[in-house]
Amino acid sequence: MLNFVYDNKTTLIFGKGTQHEAGALLKPFGKKVLLHYGGGSIRRSGLYDAVTASLKAAGVEYEELGGVQPNPTLPLVYEGIRLCREHGLGLVLAVGGGSVIDSAKAIALGVPHEGDVWDLYLSKQQPQADPLPVATVLTIPAAGSESSPNTVITNEETRRKLRYGSPKLRPVFSIINPELFFTLPHHQMANGVSDMMSHIFERYFTRTLHTDLSDGLCETTLRTIMRNARILNGNLHDYDAWAEIAFSGNLAHNNLLGVGREQDWGCHAMEHELSALYHVDHGAGLAVVTPAWMKYVSPKHQGMFAQFAVKVMGVEGSFREPDALIREGISRLERFYRELGLPTTMEELNIKSGDFPLMAEQAISVRGPIGGLEKLDARDVQAIYRLACE
Ligand code: NZQ
Ligand code: ZN
Repeated sequence: MLNFVYDNKTTLIFGKGTQHEAGALLKPFGKKVLLHYGGGSIRRSGLYDAVTASLKAAGVEYEELGGVQPNPTLPLVYEGIRLCREHGLGLVLAVGGGSVIDSAKAIALGVPHEGDVWDLYLSKQQPQADPLPVATVLTIPAAGSESSPNTVITNEETRRKLRYGSPKLRPVFSIINPELFFTLPHHQMANGVSDMMSHIFERYFTRTLHTDLSDGLCETTLRTIMRNARILNGNLHDYDAWAEIAFSGNLAHNNLLGVGREQDWGCHAMEHELSALYHVDHGAGLAVVTPAWMKYVSPKHQGMFAQFAVKVMGVEGSFREPDALIREGISRLERFYRELGLPTTMEELNIKSGDFPLMAEQAISVRGPIGGLEKLDARDVQAIYRLACE
């Protein structure tokens, strides 16, 4: 196991009715806030009314900025920065999913930053000034941004989708009420499940030895996600299944499962190029890239992938024949994605193989070869994209 420091400052307020506590929870911050949200789901569901009523009841003043689109982009971030500076706002309250929360974090980062906030995404330097605090009311369990230190923003002009991380960006609190997920369309449930599973895969597949505890936590969390996703597949109004999924999705990306072990993140880097060029949903892109990546790297890491097949996918067989175990494990994962209606090939996403060279170059352009388990250069990435066509 590697040395680690684990510090997660996000307070979780989990359960039924908790959205009504937003105002009271914000009050101690004593500041005017920016209420940030997406394209309209919170108005249709009544969540907008509930949150604004709770702010008013607690005497919390706010300005608002809606319109965050999935795969959030820079112009709205700049607008949010301008609003915060103009009105002296001291906290960003994100009511939405990963896209809204990431946009809120970018605004929080940009307000005290001299210069263009996008430069931080390019340089990866830590911020010189403390970002504004961010708080969230989560409406889709998926990206884990509600307690992660990361934000992912797309620059449409340069067609780049980049991640930026700083411990200072973990939200101060996140409200997670599984009842708020009842209004999600089926495909967003599936996207969320794919994303949170990938957050665990990126940590689970490692070169680090003696990681028994976190291996076991990863395996239990993956099995919990799959079991409850199958329940939601038949009934999107099952509170207990959403609660299990939401708790798992948070654990999947608050990094407790990733401490003490080298992490991978190759699939996320490869997927971000799909989203940047083709605007595909992040979870859908991951369902296409992940099995292809597994097929490509597993021959060199048979022990890990046989363990995955047996302990996560429930394959029975002998560890003396790892090839068969691994083949069946990956095939069961693909079948699970398809059961949820997710795509598993590039064709289903209408992605043209002619773009693979550009996407592969871009995937490695920020930090060089990607991936922790196997270092992947542009040739490897292209080979994986091609495997995802089969
Ligand atoms: O915009 P509205 O109208 O709210 O609709 C949203 C959006 O269209 C809708 N939705 C959300 N909650 C709903 C709802 N519809 C009905 N009922 C509800 N309760 O769902 C759509 C997708 O929302 P989005 O926020 O885009 O989904 P998600 O949470 O999957 O976030 C995806 C983004 O997060 C990034 C991804 O790259 C992507 O840009 N990620 C962020 C990470 C992080 N910050 O740590 C890590 C992840 O790996 C990921 O990269
Ligand atoms: Zn993700």
